[in-house]
Amino acid sequence: MATPTPANEALWLLGPRGPFEVRPTPVPTPAAGQVVVRVRAVAVNPVDAITGPLRRLVTPWVRFPTVLGSDVAGEVLAVGTDVTDLAVGDRVTAFAAGQEKPRNSAAEGGFQRIVTVLDRVTTRLPDDLSFEQAAVLPLALATAAAGLYEADQLALPLPGDGADRSDQVVLVWGASTSVGSNAVQLARASGYTVVATAGRSNHDLVRSLGAEAVLDYRDDDVDGEVAAALRGRLLAGTIAIGSGSLGHALRITRRASGTKRIASAYPDPVTAVRSRIARLRGIRVSAIWGGTPVVSPVGPAVFRDFLPGALADGRFRAAPEAMVVGHGLEALPGALQTLRDGVSARKVVVGMDD
Ligand SMILES: NC(=O)c1ccc[n+]([C@@H]2O[C@H](COP(=O)([O-])OP(=O)(O)OC[C@H]3O[C@@H](n4cnc5c(N)ncnc54)[C@H](OP(=O)(O)O)[C@@H]3O)[C@@H](O)[C@H]2O)c1
Repeated sequence: MATPTPANEALWLLGPRGPFEVRPTPVPTPAAGQVVVRVRAVAVNPVDAITGPLRRLVTPWVRFPTVLGSDVAGEVLAVGTDVTDLAVGDRVTAFAAGQEKPRNSAAEGGFQRIVTVLDRVTTRLPDDLSFEQAAVLPLALATAAAGLYEADQLALPLPGDGADRSDQVVLVWGASTSVGSNAVQLARASGYTVVATAGRSNHDLVRSLGAEAVLDYRDDDVDGEVAAALRGRLLAGTIAIGSGSLGHALRITRRASGTKRIASAYPDPVTAVRSRIARLRGIRVSAIWGGTPVVSPVGPAVFRDFLPGALADGRFRAAPEAMVVGHGLEALPGALQTLRDGVSARKVVVGMDD
């Protein structure tokens, strides 16, 4: 007997400073290109944890009340008429794009029980991947993919073409972050050798994701250590994640041979100024927006063409490990606080029971 469609509820954010409130909200119907998902797990991201005026600065287009949340995993409840690659009952993970400027829609925010997502950034899951673990993927994966593949970022070849580019190195600074865990694996899947930085306790993890060498970003001479790991090879590009990463990436890129491009996931107020100065030295710095693949060809290339097969045959892992901190929409504000308090190589996840 088919499971009856439940009523919908969302965790609404009433203003940029809060508060959050769980309220009933309509059960959506999918339009063309859309998929309606019964959410079983959601992950939280730094962008969800922002409060106050910074939220207006980062996503000025968002109207309140709104529904945050980009990372969902669950079962397909309905598909738009033109969606042919997914069916009702499929287990999926998806980038919930409600906070993205081209969508700007509360019905597409991930912090709800039944969410509308876009088919182009939805991935069918293998049976042995739990919803909680799959939920770690979407925004971090999209951010890594944006940095590596978008034409105005590193513009590397897409993953999975089988080409060997191992004489060239992608440097992933901050590889134990969620974004970095995905960047290491994508760069390897595009055929590159990966040199990475992470805290010492996470070096084994980052190596297990495919990095050849991992250095500690806290070491006094980390720039020299990375330069030594690059010696004799061409740098294909750097993805810079974490506070202070751009300064290191600039110093290393200046000394290295190869492509002088840096994609920064940590743009701060001086990034634009530094980028202009770096350009005079032939280095191109771009600021990543993790939602770009929602509308660009990179989204379906990664979420639909590459990821389902790569997850199924073990070429790609949902990493880092999910840290399930509670269940239900009411647990999400606490999950955001856990993220603000700081995590190491973990993704904060909330399960969504019936
Ligand atoms: N531009 C965008 O669109 C976009 C999208 C998503 C995320 N981001 C940004 O990307 C960063 C990572 O996000 P996330 O969700 O992946 O983070 P996360 O998984 O929550 O990050 C936790 C990790 O950060 C690492 N870390 C802390 N300080 C660091 C530093 N100074 N340098 C390098 N690594 C450092 C820690 O490494 P160890 O424990 O190993 O020391 C820890 O494992 C955040 O700054 C976030 O705001 C940007």
